[in-house]
Amino acid sequence: MPRVNIRDIAQMKAKGEKIPMITAYDYTSARLADAAEIPIVLVGDSLGMVVLGYDSTIPVTMDDMIHHVKMVVRGTQQALVVADMPFMTYQIDHSQALTNAARLLQEGGAQTVKLEGGESVAETVHRIVECGIPVMGHLGLTPQSVNAFGGYRVQGRQRKEAVQLMKDAKALEDAGAYAVVLELVPTPLARLISQRLTIPTIGIGAGPGCDGQVQVLHDMLGLFTDFLPKHAKRYANLGEAIKEAFIRYAHEVREGEFPTAKESFTMDEEILNELAVQV
Ligand code: KIV
Repeated sequence: MPRVNIRDIAQMKAKGEKIPMITAYDYTSARLADAAEIPIVLVGDSLGMVVLGYDSTIPVTMDDMIHHVKMVVRGTQQALVVADMPFMTYQIDHSQALTNAARLLQEGGAQTVKLEGGESVAETVHRIVECGIPVMGHLGLTPQSVNAFGGYRVQGRQRKEAVQLMKDAKALEDAGAYAVVLELVPTPLARLISQRLTIPTIGIGAGPGCDGQVQVLHDMLGLFTDFLPKHAKRYANLGEAIKEAFIRYAHEVREGEFPTAKESFTMDEEILNELAVQV
């Protein structure tokens, strides 16, 4: 099956087909997402929290991203791979933004990049797109600005904020973004933005009116148990299953029940007997 591309994503919106997207950070999880035919796999900078153990996405570096993007690209054959541009890797000037977007494609192997912000980054988005690198935008609660927001809260409930979000979404579309993530945006506002834009919106905590949905893999599989955000749905409880397996394994090792002959290897008795005598 050929890899999904940004035209396929545009067509999905045009046909009214909902677009599923999921994060992945390594070869194994990417392979599973690909086997489930999820059309878009995002190597999110959420990797900072769910994989690297930071308390925000801010410490994630370009080298961290490239390392994980490579794994995800190797694990996928059909999915469009989107790589997040980390905090302050696209805001300083256009040359910095172009260099870093290019690295995610050239060194990481991603097909597209994602960056946070609206009107303030529209010119940057335009420049990157002009160079042939498709850009996905990200509006609403943009986690790289958590310190400016003063926490992870819903964005766009007040008139001024809502008007700005609409302007930001339009600015991204005009700049050439092929899709935009709406994170923690009230359902009616996200629906309105989705209706106004020709490009697809991908929601996370933005209600069912978006053109697609994205979930963080560790949240939906119950692997990240520090907390479960309200916008996440747990489709499996792998964290518990893994812990149970570890407890059983440790118990069997302690009790001498593992390994058994089934997990072990034999050798020629004669050689063994010779060794026992000679050495
Ligand atoms: O980093 C990430 O996982 C994201 C999603 C929450 C959209 O940006």
